[in-house]
Amino acid sequence: MDPAFNQVIDRCESTNDLARRLGELGAPHGSWISARAQDAGRGRLGRSWLGFEGNLFLSIVARIQEPRLWTWVPLASAVGTARALRGREPALDLRIKWPNDLWVSGAKAGGILCEGVSGAGGAFIVVGIGLNCVGSPDRSSVDQDVTSLSEALGRGLTADDVRLEVVAGVREALESLVVDGTDAMAREYARWPALEQGVEVSWGEGRRGHVIGLGSAGELKVRVPSGAEESLYAEDVKVRLSDRRPR
Ligand code: BTN
Repeated sequence: MDPAFNQVIDRCESTNDLARRLGELGAPHGSWISARAQDAGRGRLGRSWLGFEGNLFLSIVARIQEPRLWTWVPLASAVGTARALRGREPALDLRIKWPNDLWVSGAKAGGILCEGVSGAGGAFIVVGIGLNCVGSPDRSSVDQDVTSLSEALGRGLTADDVRLEVVAGVREALESLVVDGTDAMAREYARWPALEQGVEVSWGEGRRGHVIGLGSAGELKVRVPSGAEESLYAEDVKVRLSDRRPR
């Protein structure tokens, strides 16, 4: 299947499932599919993702040849999304909360679910991006502060306004990951900090530690109270900012 497949459809269960099928059919790197509404969207760590019409539901097929770059794809995709939004709306206070949550004014406005696929069509990663453009989940139903781009801006901004810029931003960021490497991507990632060095975070069953920084695979290094260093991996944990102030 060539050239790239790009399409906006009315609704589906999950754009990640459709992008996976596209990839399996041989869709080239950068192909994407987006739905105006999503009925069974998936979030990280087995959570569901609300399918609000007007929000962005977008999945991109990423064929990155070097396996050592694969763990960086979620981080690079967040950088590409943040850059695209900043380019369009410079006033937004945008940050990336490790590994790839998009935060606006201190609340979650988007997330990314990357799913690896390998089979007859080769290995690829589906980069699934959800952005709260017009609406966010009811605050009582989620365990963190959430917002939408429209709420933060004080005016309407829909998926149709940002879709192509986000596709371009993610493609560019993946390109720079391949060309410039992980150190350059780590520096770019650090320009959008929500969890700076020294911030106290919690995860799992009451675990706590202070952020040290990113490891070579994009994992989060933390110092736990015993003084030991631990590595947190995106596929295992959801990290929260602790109530206590950063040191
Ligand atoms: C998260 O938990 O923060 C990640 C959310 C990812 C949601 C997007 S919406 C488009 C794509 N399709 C899905 O089913 N999930 C991702």
